[in-house]
Amino acid sequence: MERVLEPEVMDDPEQVLAYAGADFEQENQGFVDQFCGLYDDLEGAHILDLGCGPGDIPIRLARRHPTCRITGIDASQPMIAYAEHAVKKAGFHDRVQFLCHRFQDVSLSSPVDAIISNSLVHHVPNPLQFWYSVKTLLKSGGPVLVMDLLRPDNPEAAQAIVDEQAAGEPERLRQDFYHSLLAAFTEDEVASHLAKLNLSRLMVDVPDDRHWIVYGRVY
Ligand SMILES: C[S@@+](CC[C@H](N)C(=O)[O-])C[C@H]1O[C@@H](n2cnc3c(N)ncnc32)[C@H](O)[C@@H]1O
Repeated sequence: MERVLEPEVMDDPEQVLAYAGADFEQENQGFVDQFCGLYDDLEGAHILDLGCGPGDIPIRLARRHPTCRITGIDASQPMIAYAEHAVKKAGFHDRVQFLCHRFQDVSLSSPVDAIISNSLVHHVPNPLQFWYSVKTLLKSGGPVLVMDLLRPDNPEAAQAIVDEQAAGEPERLRQDFYHSLLAAFTEDEVASHLAKLNLSRLMVDVPDDRHWIVYGRVY
């Protein structure tokens, strides 16, 4: 099945509420635990979360790692508003900040120590822009963990994943999940994007039937 693009930015308030209200505890905590387990040099690190959405991953990371500083970037104003509220409520506003920007337009005064990103890449029309930003925003030797959905073989398989994984969720969330699966990349496509940007030293892995991850250090 060919990739079918979905809108890049999630800025419809109904969509934001459905996404922010969903239970991603297992996936998001698993992502944070994996990141902290992979790298042992995160002490005092400045970590960038590209496409941070409602801020759940930055908050979990701040809780798990007491000295790191996190900047979350998202192009959706309602997502950033939600994230700012959530981080204040969690009491981490001294170490977690958010910026409302397209990652393609971000420039930082100094490179960050690490980059994480979950479920952003399938939104991006040109994924090479994403990997280019990773290269330019990260210090040499900095670690990354990027996770996203895998595109199934056909629309029926996508619908089956939605029915299995999101039974009982609001219809808006189910529709967005379905369109996200159609917009996602295959493992081979991700490997080819990395190769085009000389990032082939990064590892691509498929941890389950619907996700790929990329991890390693960027030199
Ligand atoms: C599916 S959500 C994932 C949110 C979060 N990372 C998580 O795992 O819960 C994708 C997010 O990427 C944001 N996004 C899409 N394109 C973007 C871009 N070019 N720059 C910054 N954020 C973007 C969307 O607005 C949305 O909040």
